[in-house]
Amino acid sequence: MQSVTVTAAAKVNLYLHVTGQRADGYHLLESLVAFTEFGDRLMVSPGEGLSLTIGGPFADGLTDGPDNLILRAASELRDLCGVTLGAAIHLDKTIPVAAGIGGGSADAAAALTALCDFWDLNPDRTALDDLALGLGADVPVCLHGRPAHMAGIGEEVTSAPDLPDLGVLLVNPLQGVSTPQVFKALNGAFGPADRIPDAAFADPASFLAALHTRRNDLMAPAVNIAPVVGEMLAALEGLDGCRLARMSGSGATCFGLFDDPGHAARAADVFRTTHPGWWAQSTRFSGARPI
Ligand code: C5P
Repeated sequence: MQSVTVTAAAKVNLYLHVTGQRADGYHLLESLVAFTEFGDRLMVSPGEGLSLTIGGPFADGLTDGPDNLILRAASELRDLCGVTLGAAIHLDKTIPVAAGIGGGSADAAAALTALCDFWDLNPDRTALDDLALGLGADVPVCLHGRPAHMAGIGEEVTSAPDLPDLGVLLVNPLQGVSTPQVFKALNGAFGPADRIPDAAFADPASFLAALHTRRNDLMAPAVNIAPVVGEMLAALEGLDGCRLARMSGSGATCFGLFDDPGHAARAADVFRTTHPGWWAQSTRFSGARPI
């Protein structure tokens, strides 16, 4: 069996509208989700049973036991397909942990993709999406892996048009924010769904204008819990060429959008100098359309 290496792309919620809550407590969302070229790397090689090793700058924030989403994904995929094959999985963890940009969800989705390839499995797509949703509300959209409108609690994923090739700067205070705590702090302050129309993807100016009128409803509660999120947003907005600054997911990672990836790379250098205690990574949207 050939080893397989995949990128677990970081996920960015370009907007995130919380429109209601289900009886079981999960919140109903409407979000435009995109993926970046930056992400974790997952390598699958031949091995006895299922094993996981973790390296990279954020390895310390994780456990490699059976609760790890990657091992849960692997074991549930085996059950779904009725196989008992083995794999040695290595994760190179470069996405900060509990950061609102996919992290664990992207890793779980990458494990499903890589293992289907490695083990030559072709499970029913609906069953695989159900398995993904059981691992976490963001796992189905990460499995989709390209720009998507996400609705429901995360189970309704529909493709969105390709995004313009803007520069993306991700920043994180290296302080995790608890997703359940942020949803709780929203305290029922739901907003309307306001899906961006396809025409808004046509050019960068229309796209940025449409994003400006949309929201991340979890931003205010996250700022209340972790005021550093507000400080990061202000710092992003103060960077030369930053066209839009928002929080992703339930935080604490925030992103800035720039005219092109070069601008974002220069802004990352400035940001690292002015805020040496915070994490900054410039990137671009994966599969973006040249401007
Ligand atoms: O599904 P996931 O593990 O990503 O969610 C973590 C927690 O975030 C859930 O247990 C729930 O409290 C909250 N959540 C929510 N509505 C969503 C997604 C997550 O209330 N759509």
